[in-house]
Amino acid sequence: MAMRVAVIPGDGIGVETTAEAVKVLRTVASVFGRSIELETLPWSADHYLQTGVTIPANGYAMLRGFDAVFIGALGDPRVADNRHARDILLGTRFELDLYVNYRPVKLLDARLCPLKDRSVGDVNFVVFRENTEGLYVSVGGRFKPGTEDEVAIQEELNTYKGVHRIVKHAFEFATAHGRKNVCMADKSNAMTQGHALWQRVFKELAPQYPGIQAKHLYIDALVLLMVQNPAQFDVIVTNNLFGDIVTDLGAALQGGLGLAASGNLHPGKTSMFEPVHGSAPPLAGKNVANPMGAILSAALMLDYAGWSVEAAAIESAVRDAVASGNGTKEIGGSLGTVETGDYIVSRVRRALP
Ligand code: IPM
Ligand code: MN
Repeated sequence: MAMRVAVIPGDGIGVETTAEAVKVLRTVASVFGRSIELETLPWSADHYLQTGVTIPANGYAMLRGFDAVFIGALGDPRVADNRHARDILLGTRFELDLYVNYRPVKLLDARLCPLKDRSVGDVNFVVFRENTEGLYVSVGGRFKPGTEDEVAIQEELNTYKGVHRIVKHAFEFATAHGRKNVCMADKSNAMTQGHALWQRVFKELAPQYPGIQAKHLYIDALVLLMVQNPAQFDVIVTNNLFGDIVTDLGAALQGGLGLAASGNLHPGKTSMFEPVHGSAPPLAGKNVANPMGAILSAALMLDYAGWSVEAAAIESAVRDAVASGNGTKEIGGSLGTVETGDYIVSRVRRALP
């Protein structure tokens, strides 16, 4: 059966990196005799500025009709309040209830690690970022805005169900993938209401997984240890904002934002995949952006759909590109975005089943 994917390239370098991911998806489909139908949706800053529409009224319902959604990146200096990005990216996360933000942190080549003397096995963990609550819910308000008496309130939402389902997902993933430990990171020493709930849920769930070592760290200690000794981590689970921040650090550990991939999941429902990188307006249109994060996100999408052989073929093609220096400048190569994509396509072609 064909896999139907909605593709939203979005803004800036998202358009360029998505084009390479699409090329690789088409190649892998033809090499492995699979059928993938890709439907491109124009939702972006350009589209918003031309039509006044960020996402059409039936947009989320439309997305639910696909097997998966692939997003490039959103963000454009011409849309100062970032409304279109909120509606399209955060909107999709919220409206499709994609509560698992799955961000693997995997060093593909020791050369790319900014830490001294690390091998690939030292940086290989997974972050599960809660994706539908926390400080991202936009609950709050401003009193006397624009004056010197302005008061701004931004509430953090933590629900038992919301915390429970993401922490449970982390333990289930660890169990299914042979990971030894799950580390929950919060700031319960200072955020004594919301993060007390994280503590409660973690203590409730941990004993149900006796084969998995349950660890807790305050978020500040977590970032310290991610740099000092990343090898100790297998699975990290944390809230929306902390997860946003630690996954940029994770991206740095694996060689930069250009390499980081992610999935926004709701098991059993339409899920969305995107590179961790943003739209990077200064780099747009120059054929310099690294398409590997987007290509690896496409691999995550296939893997999640059960196409594990195809996903592995993509990952090994990317690994080969990194090892042989066939990549963009920031990872030590001399190729452009398109040429890096071409190289990866040529390697996928060799991975005949
Ligand atoms: C990410 C991004 C987004 C986030 C922005 C663009 C709203 O940084 O996917 O990590 O904070 O979630
Ligand atoms: Mn981020």
